[in-house]
Amino acid sequence: MRIVLGVSGGIAAYKAAHVLRGLRERGHEVRVVPTRAALRFVGAPTWEALSGQPVAADVFERVDEVEHVRVGHEADLVVLAPATADLLARARAGLADDMLTATLLTATCPVVAAPAMHTQMWEHPATVENVAVLRERGWTVIEPDSGRLTGSDSGPGRLPEPEAIIGHALAAAGEGPGPGAEARTAGKDASGPLAGLTVAVSAGGTRERLDPVRFLGNRSSGKQGAALAAAAAEAGAEVVLVSANVDSAVLAGLPAGVRVDEVESTEELFAAMAGLASDADVMIMAAAVADYRPAAAAEHKLKKSGQGLSIELVENPDVLAALVAARAEGRSRSGQTLVGFAAETGSPEKPAAVYAQEKLLRKGCDLLVFNDVSEARAFGTEDNEITVYRPAAGRAQAVATASGSKREVSEEVMAAIVAERNR
Ligand code: CTP
Repeated sequence: MRIVLGVSGGIAAYKAAHVLRGLRERGHEVRVVPTRAALRFVGAPTWEALSGQPVAADVFERVDEVEHVRVGHEADLVVLAPATADLLARARAGLADDMLTATLLTATCPVVAAPAMHTQMWEHPATVENVAVLRERGWTVIEPDSGRLTGSDSGPGRLPEPEAIIGHALAAAGEGPGPGAEARTAGKDASGPLAGLTVAVSAGGTRERLDPVRFLGNRSSGKQGAALAAAAAEAGAEVVLVSANVDSAVLAGLPAGVRVDEVESTEELFAAMAGLASDADVMIMAAAVADYRPAAAAEHKLKKSGQGLSIELVENPDVLAALVAARAEGRSRSGQTLVGFAAETGSPEKPAAVYAQEKLLRKGCDLLVFNDVSEARAFGTEDNEITVYRPAAGRAQAVATASGSKREVSEEVMAAIVAERNR
């Protein structure tokens, strides 16, 4: 089928990447049509890479091809995930002020909307009425999940799980869940040491937007994080990989059962990991997280001034520290194991390992995986050399060392996690 995936601007936009992946795995052609606001959460390059199709948010792009009419005409199914209160209102009113609403006006196929918004917005009479009208017109509007929302509030308004959205969408189009469904649960070892546990791994390097075409990033390839996800899946765990700008070739090597949630910036990665904390038994922060981001992303491409450029940076949240705090406050899965990573360089006066040991005690995680990146070892390479530390009586105790491929190293990390949980 030709499916249009309409993404509107909410924090849950990153979850649409998993909907996209699930639909493509089932053999469907997916065209992503984001709203302008959605592109502030997940950028066009991500959608283009994941869908293999061009992305346009404006009706004035590719006008010669009458794109805003063609996309809607040719669609066999439109899925809106997340559908914000604003998008539902514009759709109900029949506005056509961007590519997505224009597509909705020209589409004659089934439309399935997965709303995500704060509870008050979902329960507001305006939204209630908009949803009722859209349902009368034949739309399927999925009930949002209840649970913790962005910020401290909770209630109905969470975007349903990607697999649930896909199920509703394919049912509306008269199709079953498709052959991909089985493959995704295959390959798990039900008797493995992590069977029955959920493991969340962050991987890759976050990117902080500077202007529409530039970002501040780092050299992390995500290979180590992907290898950890694969090792956890093979040890029997249910695995979610929160992937920050990891190459699609690396993701393609993951076992079928691993769920991938794509993020770009530290804030998105934070939201994704915080959202998983209540379900995850083990959380591994392998991503290289940018400590700073530009105070403001320029709306237009920055121009040369001939006078140099100063960029004001503000500090990003410390995701691992926030996960440690959430667990201490009882907001996370009980008995959760938190694992940090430290890639350090050292000097003759202060070896890299000492920085890592200090970091373990400062961060308050259960295990810290240290690798020495003096002379740029580890980044982008196939092999790695690590030491795993745990805190013991106010000091860092080495509990495992390993060297070899990132996959071999990952198996040692899993063994250290199992040992820590059995302690
Ligand atoms: N980390 C995080 N949030 C950040 C920075 C780092 O969760 N904003 C996590 C990393 O994923 C890793 C661990 O914290 O698991 C250590 O990351 P590192 O960059 O080495 O630590 P920092 O706290 O940034 O310390 P410093 O830059 O001072 O070395």
